[in-house]
Amino acid sequence: MSSVAQYLKAIVSRRTIYALKPELPAGVSIQDVQSTIQTVVKDTPTCFNSQSVRAIVLTGESHKKAWENVINAMPSADAQMRPKSIRDEAYGSVIFFSDGPTTAKLQEGFPAYSALFPQWADHSNGAAQIHSWTALELQGLGCHLQHYNPFVQAALPSDIPADWTVQAQLVFGAPAGTAGEKTFIENPVKTYK
Ligand SMILES: Cc1cc2nc3c(=O)[nH]c(=O)nc-3n(C[C@H](O)[C@H](O)[C@H](O)COP(=O)(O)O)c2cc1C
Repeated sequence: MSSVAQYLKAIVSRRTIYALKPELPAGVSIQDVQSTIQTVVKDTPTCFNSQSVRAIVLTGESHKKAWENVINAMPSADAQMRPKSIRDEAYGSVIFFSDGPTTAKLQEGFPAYSALFPQWADHSNGAAQIHSWTALELQGLGCHLQHYNPFVQAALPSDIPADWTVQAQLVFGAPAGTAGEKTFIENPVKTYK
């Protein structure tokens, strides 16, 4: 298979897998997960090469603590179901942040683009999230993406800088089920000459 075909196959194969087991697939260590995320964070492009994306990997007690806080912040038993399943059934979660001072410095340095820098930081953060998601699934993990941002922010390890703002959580574990059915709109990409 050509390398572009392999790359596209990886994009197509990445899916939301909610059914997880609190373990890693055979042969995969948490250091492997960390190394994947490190590469993605390093090599995902950012505006002006500003490198605004930050990430940490939570597992064990730190994962449970963050998700316990999310559970306690939810207003109903229904709303608690997803974070409870994450606390009990996932092996860990990658927390993505944007570094506030990086964007502020760009805004000071290039006032004409001031309003755009936060958007560009978001674009790179999203790219890193989806690169990570695709890569972890290629490693045999199941993943899903969540946005309980303020409730996760409030229960992180104490050395996380206050000016890192939580953007998303990529929840992972060994897959315990398959992805749901997915339908697609008619959405042709045209070429104009
Ligand atoms: C930017 C973005 C935000 C998302 N936020 C959530 C979320 O907060 N909770 C959730 O359960 N799924 C979330 N998802 C997952 C989407 O619902 C899912 O990717 C979409 O339905 C397509 O399914 P697939 O991931 O299996 O291809 C998000 C996905 C993206 C790309």
